[in-house]
Amino acid sequence: NSKPTIHDFRAMKAQNKNIVMVTAYDYPAAKAVAAAGVDIILVGDSLGMAVLGYDSTIPVTMDDMIHHAKATRRGAPNSFIVTDLPFLSYQVSVAQALRNAARLVQEGWCDAVKLEGGRNIADQVHAIVEAGIPVMGHIGLQPQSVNQLGGYKVQGRTYEDARSIIEEAKILEQAGCFALVVECVNADVADIIATQLTIPVIGIGAGKDCDGQVLVLHDLLGMHDGRLPKFVKTYGNVLDEMVQGVSAYAAEVRATTFPAAEHTYSISVDVRDRLRK
Ligand code: KIV
Ligand code: NA
Repeated sequence: NSKPTIHDFRAMKAQNKNIVMVTAYDYPAAKAVAAAGVDIILVGDSLGMAVLGYDSTIPVTMDDMIHHAKATRRGAPNSFIVTDLPFLSYQVSVAQALRNAARLVQEGWCDAVKLEGGRNIADQVHAIVEAGIPVMGHIGLQPQSVNQLGGYKVQGRTYEDARSIIEEAKILEQAGCFALVVECVNADVADIIATQLTIPVIGIGAGKDCDGQVLVLHDLLGMHDGRLPKFVKTYGNVLDEMVQGVSAYAAEVRATTFPAAEHTYSISVDVRDRLRK
């Protein structure tokens, strides 16, 4: 199985084949999602919440992203991996964005980078693409701006706001993005964007008419007991399984039923008896 390219994703849109994207942040998760046959793995800065325990993505650093991107790559050597540029790693200047995008591909071994924003980061997108690094855009709800937005809210609800998101999508396509994540917008706005762009539009909380879908792995597998947005569907109860497994282990240790003979190394009776003397 050879690694897909950005051309394959464009072809999938043309052929009406939905693109499947999911996050992974480490070696075992990457192995699992690659085995499940997803099209794109995202090392999202959502790792700040999902595995680092922050209450937003804002504290996540470049070093965090590279650390997790490398672990993810080791688990999915033949997958197309996109890694997020974290907060303040690209907003300062075009030069900063280019340097950090290059770090993600050079040190983090990913195939493409993703950054949040529209017209405000169009120059950054253009420069990164010009340097030969594929860029995925991210509009609608932009979690790195949660404090400016005043919470994780549906975006594009008025005519003006919806217009602005649609225009930003076009600006990002123009700037050279190979694909676009559209987060938490109503289904009609996402449909209009997907119809008017030639690049694939990957939705999260954006309805069924996008060219693909993305979810956070820990949300879809039920790996935490935190609040889930309306747009998440859970397909597993992994946290419950983890608690059950560790509880069973704890009970057996306390009851001295673990370890049993089959988990135990032994030496010959002769050697044992001499050692015991
Ligand atoms: O960080 C992330 O997981 C993301 C997706 C939700 C699109 O950006
Ligand atoms: Na993200």
